[in-house]
Amino acid sequence: MKVGILTGGGDCPGLNAVIRAVVRKGVFHYNDEFVGFMEGWRGVMENIIMPLDLEAVGGILPRGGTILRSSRTNPAKKEGGLERCIANLKKEKVDALVAIGGDDTQSVSQKLFELGVHVVAVPKTIDNDVGGTEVCFGFDTAVSIATEAIDRLHTTAEAHNRVIMVEVMGRNSGWIAIYAGIAGGADVILIPERPFDIEDIAATLKRRHQRGRYFSIIVVAEGAKPNSSAGVVTESDKVDEFGHERLGGIGNVLAREIEKRTGFETRAVVLGHTQRGGSPTSFDRMLATRYGIGAIDLVHRGEWGSMVAIQANHITSVRIADAISKTRYVGQEFIDVALSLHDKQEEKALR
Ligand code: F6P
Repeated sequence: MKVGILTGGGDCPGLNAVIRAVVRKGVFHYNDEFVGFMEGWRGVMENIIMPLDLEAVGGILPRGGTILRSSRTNPAKKEGGLERCIANLKKEKVDALVAIGGDDTQSVSQKLFELGVHVVAVPKTIDNDVGGTEVCFGFDTAVSIATEAIDRLHTTAEAHNRVIMVEVMGRNSGWIAIYAGIAGGADVILIPERPFDIEDIAATLKRRHQRGRYFSIIVVAEGAKPNSSAGVVTESDKVDEFGHERLGGIGNVLAREIEKRTGFETRAVVLGHTQRGGSPTSFDRMLATRYGIGAIDLVHRGEWGSMVAIQANHITSVRIADAISKTRYVGQEFIDVALSLHDKQEEKALR
């Protein structure tokens, strides 16, 4: 078979490990040939390709980013975009397409599947919010990076009696914030799933100081929302081709508000793309490899319109349409873990 591969959306540690696994199993076990489409759906729409063979995937397992590069191009938003994709897949004699990406990328996979393209999906995101699967590669790496940053910020916050507000990614779900916040021992964790009250946070910090703790670490997810207003706090008004606003900026805004209310010096640190860069953890390399092997097996079972998934730590598959129709949010069980680490008074204020 001739199989095309693309990586779409924000990059994510482990993408190269998926590509490598798909190609190696495809070549060794199925005698497949591969072609790489560059920069996500842009490569398919504009027929920008690279040869993808065993040599091309040599040595890429530990590398961050993606050898196929990525973009947030949405062919469904371009005049004749989907038709151009189909024409180019035909031109390259591609029998099947493996699309590695988050819900935006997979919404295009679903549209092409409905138009008859043989597509299978691999979920990808550091945000860990894709429906139908329990864990995405890249998430563990992002959490590890954020946790290490929180550890480092603890020592400097303590040395200077400061409050440090650490802003992490995650879009509209708080997985990175709650995992890194708990693992890093943050004093307050703010996630989009639970709108926060700024007065409660200020009161919690003041009580900590009264108890003789002169520094605090707050982890805030970029999509966290105050309960007083409807929307997220952003620095930019830009939206991408899938209609998502560019998140980021809440850390700086909150730092000013907290300092105003408490009188404690408060600084914001935005971890930003650091969380997406560099080498994947061994956990993510393993997960990405399993996803890649699962994907090429789906291709050879002809399970078009399916996405590889992990459920109860087993590789399985779900319909792409089902996966993209639901975002995974942080559940109460995780919120309770975070709250259980506070005394009754703080817990009440933060609940
Ligand atoms: O979806 C992954 C992610 O890193 C989000 O956490 C973040 O909001 C977004 O991508 C940032 O995207 P970009 O790199 O395009 O600004």
